[in-house]
Amino acid sequence: MAFGWIDEQARLRRRAGLVRTLRPRPAVSPLLDLASNDYLGLARHPEVTEGAARAARLWGGGSTGSRLVTGSTELHAELERELADFCGVEAALVFSSGYAANLAAVTALAPHGSLIVSDAGNHASLIDGCRLARGTTQVVAHAEPEAVRKALHTHGGTAITVSDTVFSVDGDAAPLAALAEACREHGAGLVVDDAHGLGVLGDGGRGAPHAAGLAGADDVVVTVTLSKSLGSQGGAVLGPARVIDHLVNAARTFIFDTGLAPAAAGAALSALRLLRREPERAARVRAVAGELHARLTAAGLEAVRPDAAVVSVRAPSPEDAVRWAAGCRAAGLAVGCFRPPSVPDGISRLRLTARADLTAEQIERAVRLIGETRP
Ligand SMILES: Cc1ncc(COP(=O)(O)O)c(C=O)c1O
Repeated sequence: MAFGWIDEQARLRRRAGLVRTLRPRPAVSPLLDLASNDYLGLARHPEVTEGAARAARLWGGGSTGSRLVTGSTELHAELERELADFCGVEAALVFSSGYAANLAAVTALAPHGSLIVSDAGNHASLIDGCRLARGTTQVVAHAEPEAVRKALHTHGGTAITVSDTVFSVDGDAAPLAALAEACREHGAGLVVDDAHGLGVLGDGGRGAPHAAGLAGADDVVVTVTLSKSLGSQGGAVLGPARVIDHLVNAARTFIFDTGLAPAAAGAALSALRLLRREPERAARVRAVAGELHARLTAAGLEAVRPDAAVVSVRAPSPEDAVRWAAGCRAAGLAVGCFRPPSVPDGISRLRLTARADLTAEQIERAVRLIGETRP
């Protein structure tokens, strides 16, 4: 029977406690949210939702075509200029998602015969970029510049190194300056995904590459999502103008994809302007993450020290992680639950996200509920 094999996969998934289900949330949720990626609390900010509404009224519900045909509006150009300026790079190119931006950057910058050195903890979208690229991928140990150096030295030709700046599972930061140094020794490019760094790290939230002194470097390319700190949807690649021009001509997820919806572009632009005006939001989310970590650790839980907004708490098993997250939910707290196959090391965790708008009382309540529901 066609698709009959799916039943066997579903059975194995059930047995391993790895079944995933969708849980549509209501517009107004009674849950305290430590699960979303709305790090700066901007997704529902009136200026951001008004930016979306204004853009939809002016430009329409959709962008009407691919970027090279009718899908590039003046709004897209404005967003690209402001993103590039904010992050301190020459140029930016906006995509319909961060996923598409990562596929574009990796595939277009790793031609046939080239080497891609990829961190073992990278996000799925970078991994898929490696899989689709014509170059050969070598996966190296997590956050090990020495392993990157060795891989580049052995190859000796055209190469890029790809890494998250902040890893989405444990919230730890990549050693960006050391990675850049290893790449420079071998004339290789560095492509970093700052999905969890933009709006959180660096001066006023300008991101991890900015904090590491790499913004504007001619051998560094940065990808971002507009869907986390900026409270919208979409992605972008930031870097030297010649790289951006190359992507316009060579990146398939740019050329063969409908341009970002105007509402998403308008929301992102409003959020970016708000962040410029209120740079303290970035410092606040870091402080909230630090506070969550300190209180969880004091409560005897095994939490990884956060380098940005993600706080990861170890769970004994996938089943325990699911039960723990469900217990939190029943008690009024939404937390993320990461387990295989979404975690490269097979360790299940609760994944908490700090938000700049969490109050001291909410932080205290969240930690108490996590402790009380511990398996
Ligand atoms: C590290 C990282 N890169 C890329 C993405 C994909 O971005 P988007 O959701 O905009 O497609 C995500 C998650 O969404 C992420 O966590």
